[in-house]
Amino acid sequence: MISSNDLRQRYLDFFAKRGHAIVPSSSLVPENDPTTLFTGSGMQPMLPYLLGADHPKGTRIADSQKSFRSQDIEEVGDNRHTTFFEMLGNWSLGDYFKKEQLPWIFEFLVDDLGLDPQKLYVTVYGGDQQYDLPQDDEAIELWQQLFASKGVDNKVVSGAREKGLQDGRIFSYEGAANWWSRAGDPSNMPVGEPGGPDSEMFYDYGEERGLHESSEWKDQPCHVNCDCGRFGEVGNSVFMQYLKTEKGFEPLPQQNIDFGGGLERIASALADDPDMFKIDLFTPIIEYVEKVSGKQYEGEHLISFRVIADHMRAAVMLMADGVLPDNKDQGYFVRRLLRRSVRYGKQLGINKPFLAPLAEIVGEIYAEPYPAVKQQVESITQAIQAEEDKFLRTLERGLQEFARQTADESQLTAQLAFTLYETYGFPLELSIEEAEQQGLKIEENIDQAFATIKDQHAAQSREGAAGKFKGGLADHSETAVQYHTATHLLHAALRKILGDHVEQKGSNITGERLRFDFAHPQALTDEEKKQVEQQINDWIAADLPVTNQTMEKEAAFAAGALAFFGEKYPDQVSVYTIGSDPANDWISKELCGGPHVEHTGEIGAVEIFKEKSASAGVRRVYLRLK
Ligand code: ALA
Repeated sequence: MISSNDLRQRYLDFFAKRGHAIVPSSSLVPENDPTTLFTGSGMQPMLPYLLGADHPKGTRIADSQKSFRSQDIEEVGDNRHTTFFEMLGNWSLGDYFKKEQLPWIFEFLVDDLGLDPQKLYVTVYGGDQQYDLPQDDEAIELWQQLFASKGVDNKVVSGAREKGLQDGRIFSYEGAANWWSRAGDPSNMPVGEPGGPDSEMFYDYGEERGLHESSEWKDQPCHVNCDCGRFGEVGNSVFMQYLKTEKGFEPLPQQNIDFGGGLERIASALADDPDMFKIDLFTPIIEYVEKVSGKQYEGEHLISFRVIADHMRAAVMLMADGVLPDNKDQGYFVRRLLRRSVRYGKQLGINKPFLAPLAEIVGEIYAEPYPAVKQQVESITQAIQAEEDKFLRTLERGLQEFARQTADESQLTAQLAFTLYETYGFPLELSIEEAEQQGLKIEENIDQAFATIKDQHAAQSREGAAGKFKGGLADHSETAVQYHTATHLLHAALRKILGDHVEQKGSNITGERLRFDFAHPQALTDEEKKQVEQQINDWIAADLPVTNQTMEKEAAFAAGALAFFGEKYPDQVSVYTIGSDPANDWISKELCGGPHVEHTGEIGAVEIFKEKSASAGVRRVYLRLK
């Protein structure tokens, strides 16, 4: 079995032989790019060259780029999501195009690495009427020839989302599924952003493993882009050839290739094991955690092991790129990674500091490709130790306080859990665990009630802060207020497009995004997501006034105001209405304490960037300002 370090090298050698200059990975913290906190794909550092600037190494480049996707922190736990990963890239900067790149990458995967071509499936761009962009027939033809050359069936199919696999090999997906840009869908791209159709390669872990049947998607047909995990994406060739303009799309001055393949995902395909955490880049971490916890990875503790393995690898790699735990910016994410690792360690029964030795273990894993990690192992170890000690003290104080405050209580309420969280940084999960251990009753729906109190508290302190400070804090608070109004618009748009059964189940706002949970029985289709987003942006463009009234609770309900499920309201309530006439012509009316923007136009524009299941019958949508 080839090691991941050898795999990376083999990839770079393969493209070096085809005229590519090999360049080192850029830092996880982008240089000269204030628009984003982390390098999240191989493309980011290449942007100027895709737009036409001369790359000092020429027009053919290959690399393995360290990447970190902070938005995936809470996704970690399944068999393949990680926050840190390496993206193997090959770049044509106005040099070769599809007819060279697709055969090369096929040759690399099949002939060089030895992946069984019978287990490979590909997707291609099916076109987009809205932008007058055609289906990628050239890619289809190339793939047909490549599969035929190995004696593999090569049927082209479309409509896989509704109709399933249909014995296809090459899948054409219409709309956004096979389009890549930093901003996602064509409609989300700002003017001046490059993007293009792509073609993705998947490895089939096999129907017989039952991954689809045991997933939450079991009632829908399985297809290569299904999220059940049966098909693992091993590569994506982006044909970066368009520029978004005011009018739509125009060709870039040069046709580029941006290929990205997840090193870890290719390694797992080579092992024919859908559990990515079993590859050698994780094994030493997992073995160490098995040792300190006395528990086995396989079995009931998979999630805790995976979270710690992902988070500690990511934290160490970020620290090696100069990020220290902090309350803001990049450092905030390192702090979260470390604290979440402590908490998941507790779930494994680890009750002493255990994270610091992982600096050395991760340094050792990457000694060959990234020696800088090992060189800084002492300072990274110290930083982890300090952060872990601090957090353990926080937890200790929280536990004492928990005992004191619940001494005369029979129930853990959301309010008490929030006080412990707010004053001592004691996480809700630990309050619940403690309550369970002590045999206390737990308030029903404590998660939701806690989230509501937290949101209200955040809104209040923002109001306070906005009054006291100018500058940074006030700016931050403005963003939160924009998100707050966007929450109402999202709620209204979902009800309008999906139906009145949509009911808010929770929400959470950070400076970067809004998360919204609501009752709805199935995943949103791409079309529905697009419609919801368009509706919100239309309401924003209409610059509707937002008004506030204080009314009798009964009158507010009679007027059609929505209330947040599970919350208790006083007799006199504050109602926010969005629309030109709060009595007769409005699109949203909700019981809410505010604050809100005065006109929807202040929000700018929004995009939905993620949609997933939150729990049975509840969907979760993520939305951000553009
Ligand atoms: N930039 C492309 C991706 O991230 C390759 O999928």
